[in-house]
Amino acid sequence: MKTCVDLLIENVGRLLPGHEEALMGVSVAVDAGQIQAIGPAEKLAGLFDGSQTLDGTGKLLTAGFVDSHTHLVFGGERSGEFVQRCAGADYEHIASKGGGIRASVRMTRAADLQQLVDSARPRLQRMMESGSTTIEIKSGYGLDLENELKMLRAIRQLSEEFPIEIVATFMGAHEIPDEWRQDRAEYIRIICQQMIPQVAREGLAEFCDVFCERGVFDTQESIQILQAGLENGLKPKIHADELAASGGSLVAAQVGAISADHLMEVTTEGIEALKSAGVVPTLLPGTTFYLRKSGYAPARSLIDAGLEIAIATDRNPGSCTIESMLFIAGLSVMHMGLTPTEAIIAATRGGSHALGRGPLCGTIEAGKRADLILWDVPDEEVLIHEFANQVPRIVCAAGRIVFDSHIASIERSDLTSDQGV
Ligand code: NIG
Ligand code: FE
Repeated sequence: MKTCVDLLIENVGRLLPGHEEALMGVSVAVDAGQIQAIGPAEKLAGLFDGSQTLDGTGKLLTAGFVDSHTHLVFGGERSGEFVQRCAGADYEHIASKGGGIRASVRMTRAADLQQLVDSARPRLQRMMESGSTTIEIKSGYGLDLENELKMLRAIRQLSEEFPIEIVATFMGAHEIPDEWRQDRAEYIRIICQQMIPQVAREGLAEFCDVFCERGVFDTQESIQILQAGLENGLKPKIHADELAASGGSLVAAQVGAISADHLMEVTTEGIEALKSAGVVPTLLPGTTFYLRKSGYAPARSLIDAGLEIAIATDRNPGSCTIESMLFIAGLSVMHMGLTPTEAIIAATRGGSHALGRGPLCGTIEAGKRADLILWDVPDEEVLIHEFANQVPRIVCAAGRIVFDSHIASIERSDLTSDQGV
């Protein structure tokens, strides 16, 4: 008697992460949203019947991407700044003139909750279709109690709508809003004593993040905010050493942050601190690329120090609009010296560690959530080589097929022939 399972992915050529050694002809049985069994195709064919089956012959199966750092909910858009930067203006200069994050704050405050949800939905849909099955989203364009809560409620609504896992982070400390620029201590007091307790009471976020950077929040302020988060049950994350070596990695180690993100300017001392405190370095090469900087984060030094890195998109309205984790993996290989295998692992297992979800997702193992991408390529080298393209794929989130590019392209070709008649 064979056991009936929801989905059987048969005779896959290569699985990653979890099975880096060469494997041929492996099947994966999925039921009740989880990976139930992995084994030789012939053996599993004798044990399981799939209500649905996918043929993996000659294909690569990876875990779903875990995008552990995004700001994908926001009002308005900032394409004008991109054009200014391409003509030579600098990100920090634009920010100092009231652009940058503060421009998005004005547009986000002007939008209501439903407008925020409606504008974020297509971004999230594209990200899911590109293979991201766990996505973290930060607040941080409201910068007052009412508007930060509005953003977090928009994130909660999106998480109820989508079949993938959404993780919310409170980031009231993304910037000092215009109205508190003459009294930053008061804004920090509001974050610590009003915003964080309210966000925690309503269960609207799991993490608390701070932009520790020259001209934004300094190390002492960052510690104060992240400690207030900890006291209210929000786990710390930090934007660290992005544009200057501002001590963010040392703060991350001191408060026991789960991740330190960006790290373009991290020092040797910073790397040692991250290592000793078990902080996950999260690298965002899309931002380096998009800001037209040359100093990519030192991924090899971090890996050589024995750290497991994560890579993420940082999707936001200003410094990076890239949504595809495959594109980010490609940049990591091109500009940070990762091998294709390391890049896929950093985009999956690495991201799961940066969100404290190592036991749940990020690898292909029995017992993990069935977040999977079946790619029409034989291995990760071919996949990364095509990083800027729409590689044919089937995306599965918690055991359910949420996107099949083959079906989408059939619909498109129908449309074309109709129009041609
Ligand atoms: O991660 N560094 C701070 N926050 C974002 C930028 C957000 C923005 O420009 O709107 C980042 O790059
Ligand atoms: Fe960011």
